[in-house]
Amino acid sequence: MRFDILTLFPEMFEGVLGSSILKRAGQSLEDPKDEQSPRPPAVSYHLTNIRDHTQDKHQKVDHRPFGGGPGMVMQCQPIWDAVRAVESQDPRPAMRVLMTPQGRTLDQGIVQKLSKERRLLIIAGHYEGIDERVIEKLNPIQEISIGDYVLTGGELPAMVLIDAVVRLLPGVLGDDESACCESFSDGSDGLLDHPHYTRPQIWQGMEVPGVLVSGDHARIEAWRREQSQRRTVARRPDLIAPDSDGVENENTRGS
Ligand code: ADE
Repeated sequence: MRFDILTLFPEMFEGVLGSSILKRAGQSLEDPKDEQSPRPPAVSYHLTNIRDHTQDKHQKVDHRPFGGGPGMVMQCQPIWDAVRAVESQDPRPAMRVLMTPQGRTLDQGIVQKLSKERRLLIIAGHYEGIDERVIEKLNPIQEISIGDYVLTGGELPAMVLIDAVVRLLPGVLGDDESACCESFSDGSDGLLDHPHYTRPQIWQGMEVPGVLVSGDHARIEAWRREQSQRRTVARRPDLIAPDSDGVENENTRGS
């Protein structure tokens, strides 16, 4: 998948895209056990500074809002020209995404859909917002928020989105890190994840639940499922959409 990221602060992305799993996803994978090794990288990241596309001699990208009010609004022209320039770099059509607190709240369902795209073009807005006309002109564009709070810009939200998408791409997570059964995944039935434990078996007098060291895989599975249900009911009842008649559903039954 190709990511194009349009931002006024490309340097903010270096640490995140250049570390850990997001970095590895951008490298070709050498695996002696894999016949198709080396595999091509799962992703490529292309950062564009919106300021490089301004026509203003002072490289201005924003202006005071019509109608008054605090803050500055990002102007249409630099964003529009940056999008057009970036899109012409690759024949693959891009799914356009604007990070904004006015967008639809990101969830694992949206992440899964986006992970099927071949190219995402993400605009990280700044200041008080973006001139509405360029958003209209960029239609179709998905406006996405990462939650009901306001950050100083769309850069951190863009990184959150990229992280969530990249880890779903084939070959990015090893078997040990698999995304199949964690909270919000298809394999979890929309429940929260169960608790996890590792060595030592006793830490500061606290013991690992006995069932997990019993070797009885059916019992372990049943215990984990029950823990997931309990946690979801206690912490996130909103995830278990009750039937409109208030009758229990398959996820709440017995918990
Ligand atoms: N920009 C500022 N706050 C944001 C948020 N919560 N989500 C997406 N983009 C943003």
